[in-house]
Amino acid sequence: MIVWLKILGVIFLLVTSKIIILSALFYREVRNAQKKDPAAKSFLEVLLLYQGLHALIYHRQAHFFYTIRLFFLARLISQFSRHMTGIEIHPGARIGRDFFIDHGMGVVIGETAVIGDGVLLYQGVTLGGTGLEKGKRHPTIGNNVVIGTGAKVLGNITVGDNSYIGANAVVINDVPPNSTVVGVPGRVTKQDGKKIEVSLDHIHVLDPIMQTIEELEKRVRELENRGN
Ligand SMILES: CC(C)(COP(=O)(O)OP(=O)(O)OC[C@H]1O[C@@H](n2cnc3c(N)ncnc32)[C@H](O)[C@@H]1OP(=O)(O)O)[C@@H](O)C(=O)NCCC(=O)NCCS
Repeated sequence: MIVWLKILGVIFLLVTSKIIILSALFYREVRNAQKKDPAAKSFLEVLLLYQGLHALIYHRQAHFFYTIRLFFLARLISQFSRHMTGIEIHPGARIGRDFFIDHGMGVVIGETAVIGDGVLLYQGVTLGGTGLEKGKRHPTIGNNVVIGTGAKVLGNITVGDNSYIGANAVVINDVPPNSTVVGVPGRVTKQDGKKIEVSLDHIHVLDPIMQTIEELEKRVRELENRGN
């Protein structure tokens, strides 16, 4: 009986000290997650139960080993993290401060992706390459960017600071700062808080076919209105 009590005591001590160490090391990240997720109820809930935070904690370790060229160990940690969290971050990816992945499942971040500070990703986001090219082949994401659920940002492109990528968008071209991008392929619908009239805009339109369809839709609407 006493032996079992001792074993339980040791387990309790180990778990509590792990929680205390993690709280101290990742205090800022937990607070950031609490700010970005209105559903987060407490510090402890985020620390112990948020997969997005756990993926970041594993990634910080994996990235350290990647930078000192212990690639196998780095990859081992990132694969373990993938199994535990459903989030795959290549150890080579460079991620800034105040990063948070909400919900998380299905997120993939490629080796040469660079992510600025204050970035928020939702589930199912891919920051990927477009083919089998080598070198820098994944996106660079600016500061305070939000990438909606299911969005794919592909290739060595840059998403400017404070931009918003809509849910399920497929972005394959650079995005200017302070923009909102939606659709497949992604097109800028707002910049610096102003809505962009797609049919009149020739700078931000990333897809001429989409532009033609929208012009046709507009003309059909006008004809219908005239008929009424
Ligand atoms: C893009 C988004 C940020 C809205 O931005 P907004 O600037 O407020 O855009 P609006 O709602 O004014 O919509 C602007 C236009 O884009 C369209 N649109 C908005 N979101 C879109 C999307 N994800 N895909 C395609 N079109 C979209 C709207 O229908 C509207 O079209 P219209 O001008 O022809 O009427 C938002 O719709 C979005 O996708 N957020 C992601 C949220 C998310 O992933 N949450 C996960 C929670 S688990």
